[in-house]
Amino acid sequence: MPTTTNPLRLWTDLTLFDGVQIHTQSMAVVVEGERIVWVGPKTELSASQLASADLMGTGGVMTPGLIDCHTHLVFGGDRADEFAQRLEGVSYAEIAAQGGGILSTVKATRAASEEELFTSAQARLEALMADGVTMVEIKSGYGLTMADELKMLRVARRLGEQNPVHIRTTLLGAHALPPEYAGQPDAYIDLICEQMIPQAAAEGLADAVDVFCEGIGFSVAQCERVFQAAQRHGLAVKAHAEQLSNLGGSALAARYQALSVDHIEWLDEAGVSAMAQAGTVATLLPGAFYTLRDTQVPPIDLLRQYGVPLALATDGNPGSSPIFQLTLMLNMACTLFRLTPLEALQGVTKNAAKALGLAEQAGVIAPGRHADFCLWRARNPYELVSTVQPGRLQQRVFRGAVTHG
Ligand code: NIG
Ligand code: FE
Repeated sequence: MPTTTNPLRLWTDLTLFDGVQIHTQSMAVVVEGERIVWVGPKTELSASQLASADLMGTGGVMTPGLIDCHTHLVFGGDRADEFAQRLEGVSYAEIAAQGGGILSTVKATRAASEEELFTSAQARLEALMADGVTMVEIKSGYGLTMADELKMLRVARRLGEQNPVHIRTTLLGAHALPPEYAGQPDAYIDLICEQMIPQAAAEGLADAVDVFCEGIGFSVAQCERVFQAAQRHGLAVKAHAEQLSNLGGSALAARYQALSVDHIEWLDEAGVSAMAQAGTVATLLPGAFYTLRDTQVPPIDLLRQYGVPLALATDGNPGSSPIFQLTLMLNMACTLFRLTPLEALQGVTKNAAKALGLAEQAGVIAPGRHADFCLWRARNPYELVSTVQPGRLQQRVFRGAVTHG
């Protein structure tokens, strides 16, 4: 691993995807401390830059550090049995109705100590980091009591403190109705609005609030109450919506200036239009589509027509998307949803940053930005999309420091 005490470091002879477009002429990037200070064609590097900086890498493809903007990385137990059941033809919704699915993970997560949750999530986080990820959003949603939701969020925060990665946390109290509230969903929404959100906000444990707006989740009216509470406490909102049916959760979320609406297989034009007006990102989750053997493809053409930014994420979770490899999503999004390779790359960089409310801070390689980027053994950035080949990460740089390679 290259080490240096010189604050000025140089990568050169790069094919550069900067988060927006691809630069094929031989490019160079100069870093000072934790920040990028210069990006341009190698021929425009000044003699003094060349002479004073330590050379950290030559050749290969450079991209921004990848951003996984939708995960459920912290959870107890596993759902391998449910995987087998689904192969026998039992649907995700049927499993949920039988008390399996999300609720079986709730049981295991409640039973797990903070240490156990940390250890199992750490392994999943390491897999993401080894795949080039430098920023991860982690949701709660498997605790469903105040104590257990806050426990999950504390684990997520600690993962960020103890690893070279930026973690964003999202309170997803409205993920499923816990068994002790069976038949009283509105009373559970009261708990979320009156206790979980205020406490998570007061302790600085959540950057945003999410909901599962679905027949097997919560109604539009219930989600709206959650969004109102989030707004009162200064927290941004996001939604899992239009995954299994079209309830109109996306349009509702857009009315609350949601950062993103995620899944959206059943999204209609009114929802697309509302998202475009609000500047809400559409986060596509091809891992869940694939795992659930879904056939309803999100309305990609409409989203393009209305100029809605497209992000891509793993949705890494024990049930509907037990996949912790963001580069695989690049390929799946193109194969399953017909994204272009460029859209896919933007979806895990610039647009993923926007889905986290960090468009001005992350997801692009440009002067002034944090030096969070990856160097790949590839000739063309599109190879990262077209070919599923683990082990291509040559260097991962977080805040200017080489962490892998
Ligand atoms: O994003 N849609 C709801 N929530 C998760 C699934 C979580 C689970 O199955 O445990 C999702 O797909
Ligand atoms: Fe999810």
